[in-house]
Amino acid sequence: MTKMNLFSTTVCAVAAAVFLAGCGKSEPGAPGATTGGSSSGASGEVIKVGEFASLTGKEATFGQSSHEGTAMAIEEINAAGGLLGRKLELVTEDTQSKAGEPATVVNKLVSRDNVVAVLGEVASSRSLEAAPICQQSKIPMISPSSTNPKVTESGDFIFRVCFIDPFQGTVMANFASKTLNAKKVAVFTDVKSDYSKGLAKFFKEQFTKNGGTIAGELDYNGGDKDFKGQLTAIKSENPDAVFVPGYYTDVALICIQAKQLGLNVPFMGGDGWESEDLVKIGQGAVENHYFSTHYHPDVGSETSKKFVANYKKHYNGKTPDALAACGFDSAAVLADAIKRAGSTDGQKVRDALAATKDFDGVTGKITINEKRDATKSAVILQIKDGKYKYLTTVNP
Ligand code: PHE
Repeated sequence: MTKMNLFSTTVCAVAAAVFLAGCGKSEPGAPGATTGGSSSGASGEVIKVGEFASLTGKEATFGQSSHEGTAMAIEEINAAGGLLGRKLELVTEDTQSKAGEPATVVNKLVSRDNVVAVLGEVASSRSLEAAPICQQSKIPMISPSSTNPKVTESGDFIFRVCFIDPFQGTVMANFASKTLNAKKVAVFTDVKSDYSKGLAKFFKEQFTKNGGTIAGELDYNGGDKDFKGQLTAIKSENPDAVFVPGYYTDVALICIQAKQLGLNVPFMGGDGWESEDLVKIGQGAVENHYFSTHYHPDVGSETSKKFVANYKKHYNGKTPDALAACGFDSAAVLADAIKRAGSTDGQKVRDALAATKDFDGVTGKITINEKRDATKSAVILQIKDGKYKYLTTVNP
């Protein structure tokens, strides 16, 4: 074993211990540890792929789900013989849902582990923090599900396999106007999150274009526990609905406190609502509300059906969410690009990624456009009996 391997094994063991303590379960490909081929194999060097994800902390379910999808894709590729005659090894780092961590861990992936590409993050603010490091090192980065437009504007090595928020905001504004028939909507924004600020802005632009009025624009800071002051202000505006482009932990508390205050209008949000914990924390208070996201396991192509079946087998009957599907697609699109590039060279993989066309992803056909984003449809879901009920698909 080389010195490098010894070092990374130690670091991984520590990270894995933290992860296990944090959520009390061990998944295949435990984060911090590596998933896939071993460097000691006789068939030459493994191809190391980096991943950074919020495996613990406030948005832990984002990172965990995304990682499960990503790790499964890597395992499937290896089972089918790997790439360029070599096995893939996924090196996963935890961002702990915290600012400051993405830069630290992505620097490690790039300099210590010499990964050929980086997959991550889910949250836009954390992708934005790491993107300049990948760009400078000329290591392609693919975010599975960060939707703020600025992420891929970080440079020509930065990609995503999902839609962006000008589209998602438009989808929900049109849903508010046309389906809910809302004329007055309040918007409640997490000012600590690039995602939330962007999605709020794009929603407002389209909703006012539709002839609607924004009645009450209030702010919170992700991690706050008491939202009653702002919710009282929102209630006094008598809105027909409330748009909360936040993440599930905050959204669940917001819905609980809104209900306590008697603010009984439909709440709407975006993909940041998607977590099994939204319903666990929010219970009855999130019932009947709506959000848009990337994927629903009940609707989709043959590729999606195969993914759902394999995922259930792999993860004890668990149904995949959009994060898992996007994570899977990020690794699958990378593998496809490495294959077409015939190389793991950063520039060549970048060029191949940029040329991705009609790739058959779990979340739909993926074509990387000139802004290195994917143009894809969104689904709108409603929370019914504690489950996410599919309502409709909106095409771009
Ligand atoms: N789109 C969100 C962001 O950019 C992250 C997210 C994706 C959350 C998918 C949940 C599901 O921050």
